[in-house]
Amino acid sequence: MRQQPKPVPEAYAESLESSEQRRAFRRRVFQWFDKHQRELPWRQTDDPYCVWVSEIMLQQTQVVTVIPYFEKFLKRFPDVYALAAADEATVLRYWEGLGYYRRARQMHRAAQVVVEEHQGILPRQSQTLQALPGIGRYTAGAILSIAHDQREPILEANTIRLLARLIALDEPTTTAASQATLWDVAEELLPRKRVGAFNQGLMELGSLVCTPRNPECTDCPVARHCRTFGEGLQEAIPVPKKKTQYEAIDEAAVAIWHAGRVLVRQCGPDERWAGLWDFPRFPVTDVGGAKRRREVIRQTQDMTGVELAQLRQLSVLKHAVTRYRISLTCYDAQATTGPAGGSSANQQWLTVQELENIPLSVTGRKMAGLLAGVDDKA
Ligand code: ADE
Repeated sequence: MRQQPKPVPEAYAESLESSEQRRAFRRRVFQWFDKHQRELPWRQTDDPYCVWVSEIMLQQTQVVTVIPYFEKFLKRFPDVYALAAADEATVLRYWEGLGYYRRARQMHRAAQVVVEEHQGILPRQSQTLQALPGIGRYTAGAILSIAHDQREPILEANTIRLLARLIALDEPTTTAASQATLWDVAEELLPRKRVGAFNQGLMELGSLVCTPRNPECTDCPVARHCRTFGEGLQEAIPVPKKKTQYEAIDEAAVAIWHAGRVLVRQCGPDERWAGLWDFPRFPVTDVGGAKRRREVIRQTQDMTGVELAQLRQLSVLKHAVTRYRISLTCYDAQATTGPAGGSSANQQWLTVQELENIPLSVTGRKMAGLLAGVDDKA
């Protein structure tokens, strides 16, 4: 039997100007969400702690990536007390691979504040929540609406795109004026009840239907309210912001061997991977040849206090962090001064096996993998 063709949504038959139109819009979001929402682990609970963990992980990270991290994290840190009592390295170990480690460090500190100053209970006022490290208006709104159905708007990547299209916002969504407009729209659309379901419905619509490329407008329950759909501007809105200028960086990392162990150092508070452990790593200015080797040896010695010899290149790892394109040349070398040179509070000598127990940057972990396959006797 031939399938009936899908009815084409009526283009911009209803705006969002009147309260009846907004009521119809909310009803359509609820009906769609009740039918189409994905079963996600953080949707099985309204515990504000779990909502908080999920929302922090979901910032800058895809749902499919977050799911296993969320489950393991909650098993190890089931409540705010468990998180507050853990040491930072353990928290970072459970975050390893998710990136943007500042999120984990801030959540850990916020958990300690919640235990010390709020009797272990996440505050119920948006402003008080926003005073905690790492919680902005979005995260506060998500926690309060999803866990307690409080009437708080949210604005994150998916809803920004959806709302920008609904009103056909004709400037990049990142400007202060656009943000203010979008927060106003998010607030105006809020229902009085089931606020958490509504906010999640908007995020889910943005994520599954109102996608960045080729949005599925024929499946969209609110297409008739959408100015962008009415005007056929789906590919032009949201208006892209100016292209990021990428910067190439040439870095070296050196695994120094001594008696079957390698030297690792903990990154300081101002470094890119603060709190994580890493091999001595630094930008290199000389492009190649003997001069580069001398520079790598000198910088490693300056950084660690260990004299070294037999520097050899293992591999080149390419990766990107924010606007940087990093080419990381990995070396190993032998310590000639013995382990005493490397002894300081933020350095330790570990076997390759022991590297499993400390949090490393993603490239640090890859390099640890390379070391498992090389012979330290050079
Ligand atoms: N992105 C941010 N928060 C989310 C949530 N609660 N569900 C799905 N995607 C999200």
